[in-house]
Amino acid sequence: MHPVDFLVVGGGVAGLRAAIGLAASGRVLVLTKAEPAESNTGYAQGGIAAAFGDDDTPALHAADTVRAGDGLCDESAVAVLVEEGPPDVRELLAWGARFDLGADGRPALGREAAHSVRRVLHAGDATGREIGRVLWERVSGLATAETIDHVLATEIIVEDGRARGLRYFDAAGASHEVRAGATLLATGGAGRVFRETTNPAVATGDGIALAIHAGARVADLEFVQFHPTALNLAGAPRFLISEALRGEGARLVNGRGDAFMLRRHPDGDLAPRDVVARGIVRESEETGAPVFLTLAHLDAGYVRARFPTIAAMCAQVGLDLARDPIPVGPAAHYMMGGVDTDEWGRTSLPGLFAAGEVACTGVHGANRLASNSLLEGLVFGARAAVAMQQPARGAALKADRIIADGSSLIAPAVDGGDDRPDAIRHQPSALDSEAVRDVMWRNAGLFRSREGLTDAVHALDGAGAAAPPATADEWRQHNLRTVAYAIARAALRREESRGGHFRADFPRRDDARWQVHIVDARGDA
Ligand code: SIN
Repeated sequence: MHPVDFLVVGGGVAGLRAAIGLAASGRVLVLTKAEPAESNTGYAQGGIAAAFGDDDTPALHAADTVRAGDGLCDESAVAVLVEEGPPDVRELLAWGARFDLGADGRPALGREAAHSVRRVLHAGDATGREIGRVLWERVSGLATAETIDHVLATEIIVEDGRARGLRYFDAAGASHEVRAGATLLATGGAGRVFRETTNPAVATGDGIALAIHAGARVADLEFVQFHPTALNLAGAPRFLISEALRGEGARLVNGRGDAFMLRRHPDGDLAPRDVVARGIVRESEETGAPVFLTLAHLDAGYVRARFPTIAAMCAQVGLDLARDPIPVGPAAHYMMGGVDTDEWGRTSLPGLFAAGEVACTGVHGANRLASNSLLEGLVFGARAAVAMQQPARGAALKADRIIADGSSLIAPAVDGGDDRPDAIRHQPSALDSEAVRDVMWRNAGLFRSREGLTDAVHALDGAGAAAPPATADEWRQHNLRTVAYAIARAALRREESRGGHFRADFPRRDDARWQVHIVDARGDA
């Protein structure tokens, strides 16, 4: 493969927006893992948050984002998000994004949990698909951009302390190398590290594994958001039942039909996601019955017209969204942590950039505000494109981050008698991907404890010790175990509860010890 100026790994909103920004300055290669539309972007239902309303301002959006982030948002990254968000969304509209409009012809704004005003622009309940459509159309028209799909990225090429491109397998299983002046990881999320997830099959955290193996810093990996309302029906996929439904008045009820969330939080059904997710599990345990979302009190025609995708998915499993109680439960949804970057997408490794869900700017803190993810991809994808055209340099470590015990991130210490949480005993892992997902869901999911996390870490800790992978399938398993291990270990280390990270053995937030982003790095990145 000929060298390119810019390599973009991932075909979601962050990668595509970056490709558009880069195309005037050189040759761009976009690598995607599956079909072009198959990314977390394409599955985003609720919408894209931006301060468009007359009652809204970027400052109010920032305040909601910071409150949801539970004391851990990087406020400079938040300022970038909320201030650059509205102009970037306007640009998307100018490029042809068809969002739903209100009677005044302006974008209609939806409501979601923890937003103090209506702020969510949407295209029915398939907003991500619409944004992906607009961006793909634009990328397809760029003379300097090329796309290769069905690619499995395996290794960043690192030479003389900087990233020089990537190794990957193509759809036929042949391995390739492409050299690039600047490489962007826009590989999306890692929900598939858990058994129950709203994410598509491609969301296995590849970018995090690539960065770890290349020696780049990763941060905040313990912070995984579990969405409260995935479909919870035996044998059916855990597809997302958007929070926007609750924004429009849908209610969570227990098996007896009682609305229970107000008993658990003053904001009721629109409490923060982590609170609702745990509330559902506890209610279900206490009543011995599943929890349901009901829209039966709303106008059925409106429900079907406003949420056609979700209604169609429900119909496929024999449920009428507008009339039937819909069984729901939590599932892994979004990764707040990721590859540590500055506000321009620079990682600690010169020449390597990251944007979107794979990155950790700190913008979401410990818990992402609903519908800030598409916005993040748009804003930080555009910014990464700017930085990728500048001379390569690594991002400095921000003042609110501490480096933790990085040497054992991949190959854990062999240690006999020490029972500190960080002292991990080595047992080569033979877990296949399904077993990894089971272990992570059971032990590193919604409710965590030292005991469960230690079990998970022990089960996974051969991830770095196994023989180097050779085939695409071995790489897939290797990378999944690497990401799972890194998440479990980060969760074991943080002995408090904050945002998406809930430790049953440390149920309180502890700012004195833990109001800090924890960064792992292999080597001296
Ligand atoms: C949803 O529609 O509930 C999910 C949107 C998001 O994760 O922000």
